[in-house]
Amino acid sequence: MQDHIFSQKITTWYHQNKRNLPWRDIHNPYFIWLSEVILQQTRVVQGMPYYYKFIEAFPTVQDLATADEKDVLRLWQGLGYYSRARNLHTTAKMVIENYGGEFPNTYSELLKLKGIGTYTAAAIASFAFGEKVAVLDGNVYRVLSRVFGEETDIASNEAKKVFTKLAEAVLPEKNIDIHNQAIMEFGAMQCTPASPNCMFCPLTFECVANATGKVGILPVKSKK
Ligand code: ADE
Repeated sequence: MQDHIFSQKITTWYHQNKRNLPWRDIHNPYFIWLSEVILQQTRVVQGMPYYYKFIEAFPTVQDLATADEKDVLRLWQGLGYYSRARNLHTTAKMVIENYGGEFPNTYSELLKLKGIGTYTAAAIASFAFGEKVAVLDGNVYRVLSRVFGEETDIASNEAKKVFTKLAEAVLPEKNIDIHNQAIMEFGAMQCTPASPNCMFCPLTFECVANATGKVGILPVKSKK
């Protein structure tokens, strides 16, 4: 399959099937960052009320930076992994002190912020600024592994390199934000871990795993 066909098909699927989520179709890097940190270890339905609470209490990164830590932690109550809330606060202060209150607008600058790793930097850079970088999360690994029949163990050391290369190869020239949202949503809703909807899938004929009977064993993930 040609790479642009993959992107076209998942993007069309996305427009027809996506959930309406409040951090979609926005370009505010601060809101996107908040949503991604909340969703790191939390499901969408559980995270959504927290997202609304945070943007209401702290509508700008300045508001978050100048808040009392105890107020930030109180708002976070129930989400767990409190280091995420502390990192949020620290990073908001860094944005004020080191970047004059403007969120960094490139992948490489974003990576310098505390608590922002490769996934979150790619999400913010592509969703907010349209930068041509690929997002890689569990959903993306699964979709790429199945569609392209990539059998590299996703728990292995070389997985990140192999899958980054694949993910970059399928990036379109334009609308990177939509492409990245689409591949994640496709993994979350259609190409799910245990019961993918292969009967009604726009990639039925292109999918290597489907053709070779490997949907159930891909992605390969060894126990470490
Ligand atoms: N999980 C992590 N990031 C997400 C996003 N942007 N949309 C939906 N689910 C997500």
